[in-house]
Amino acid sequence: MVTISICVGSSCHLKGAYDIIHQCESLIEEFGLKSQVELRGTFCLGRCTEEGVTVVVDGEVLSGVSPKNFREIFVEKVLSRLKEESSGGH
Ligand code: FES
Repeated sequence: MVTISICVGSSCHLKGAYDIIHQCESLIEEFGLKSQVELRGTFCLGRCTEEGVTVVVDGEVLSGVSPKNFREIFVEKVLSRLKEESSGGH
């Protein structure tokens, strides 16, 4: 189980947080991960000064997320984590 929290504070909202949420929902759908990924919104994470939206994947804070790079981040951070988990976490 991987938890993805997307910042929906006002600054991230303006930078497209809701686009990222929708993109995340379709990626979860696309990869059939509904039972393995928990998607939530979170309040400001104090990274407003960074470019792009702030996203937290299992406690790892990633800033500079945009609709352009989110797919890549999802594959790199979420899919690889789930793979590790299913192989016993080693
Ligand atoms: S509003 Fe997202 S980090 Fe501040």
